[in-house]
Amino acid sequence: MKYAFSKLAKASLVPSAVNQLTADFAEDFREGTDINLGVGYVNDSTIPADAIGEAFSEIVSNQHQYRNALNYGGADGSPNLRRAIMNYYIRCNIGGLSEKNFEGRKILIGANGATSILDALSDIFEPGVVITADPYYYIYTETLERKGYKIVAIPEDDEGLKVDLLSKTLEQLSPDTIRFFYIVTVNNPSTVILSNQRRKAIVKIAQRISQKIGRIIPVVFDKAYEDIIHKTGIEKPVSGLKFGKPDGVFEIGTLSKIFAPALRIGYIICSDNDFAKVLTQRTSDIGFSSPLINQEIAGWLLDHYIHQQREKVNRGYQKKAQFIQQLFTKHLGKYLKCYSGGDAAFYFYLTFNDIRTDKESRFFNFLTRTTGDPNIDGLTEKLPRLIYIPGTICSKTSDSKYQLRLSYGFEEPQVFERAVKLMAEACVYAMSY
Ligand SMILES: Cc1ncc(COP(=O)(O)O)c(C=O)c1O
Repeated sequence: MKYAFSKLAKASLVPSAVNQLTADFAEDFREGTDINLGVGYVNDSTIPADAIGEAFSEIVSNQHQYRNALNYGGADGSPNLRRAIMNYYIRCNIGGLSEKNFEGRKILIGANGATSILDALSDIFEPGVVITADPYYYIYTETLERKGYKIVAIPEDDEGLKVDLLSKTLEQLSPDTIRFFYIVTVNNPSTVILSNQRRKAIVKIAQRISQKIGRIIPVVFDKAYEDIIHKTGIEKPVSGLKFGKPDGVFEIGTLSKIFAPALRIGYIICSDNDFAKVLTQRTSDIGFSSPLINQEIAGWLLDHYIHQQREKVNRGYQKKAQFIQQLFTKHLGKYLKCYSGGDAAFYFYLTFNDIRTDKESRFFNFLTRTTGDPNIDGLTEKLPRLIYIPGTICSKTSDSKYQLRLSYGFEEPQVFERAVKLMAEACVYAMSY
């Protein structure tokens, strides 16, 4: 006998490509031996545990300012946190936004990080086409596909999504089928930073088709990693909210990467219109609100601690990125065609010359010790294993078979050294047949 599963439930019976990939590996993962460079965890030492403790004590002892912090919260989010986010933008000139840019707009807090806001978008719009860059944020595109959306991914270059290709692709699509653009400003997996000129051009294109069909096709900018652009001296990002009509552009942010993923604080800045009403209702449906205590802690951290935190986090990631880049040059140089990363966030996206990286490849089999050859896999016990995200999971281009994403958020530099050496061995193995 079967359950009366919904379409979504039926689609969810099949684990996502990433879950499938990591399931086996996670089961018998050996701490200190195996290396997981697939997960997008932040570095534990960047999480300000003491400041979070201090914030908690301040909040529970100040009932006047922080009412009911351990009780239910309102679905549009804590007023303290919403104010703190706005003040952070204005004080630190984030995205070039001023107080005026917040007039007529709302900051809404998601029930459970930016992920819940992204998920809510997929319920708010009718399934249809979503435009994004290639490589794409595979976790969200999979959610969208399970909910019946079709992903149209436009290849990027070092300035982000190529707008000339976008225009050409749009000529072949029926505009009526397009629901929204999902644009990650520091792309995951490539960490390519979308240039300001491209942001403006993308909004212009979306607004042109909106005008044509008489319906808003919003551009959703996901700026999850903009607080951790750690290379200095590069173009300062301008918020997409500065371009085009206010009801056609949303900006999603998260405090996961700069403070702590476990706070689960994500937000959206959008027009104070029907969209904001619907999103607030979805937040209420999902879990009433994000936990109020976490929201108050996040607001306190933004008010008291963001400056030193940003400096510390970005200094740490920049140092690590430079160390790893030097490892690439030393050990992988001759095998690599190119790579992106090192300026922002904590991913490198590698393209190999002739070495395939997909799940069926010799390179992958070597690193996961699934070659079937005991000399490679290990005689009695498996030799050290390494997991990464194959390009085929996050891209549809022909290059994707030769690409992979490595995350350098979580693991320490010496583990990375081991990892890069293992990859060099895997390259030798991959080429030896
Ligand atoms: C592009 C992008 N957006 C959103 C998120 C999720 O953020 P949150 O932790 O706030 O749910 C991630 C997390 O890795 C991400 O890479």
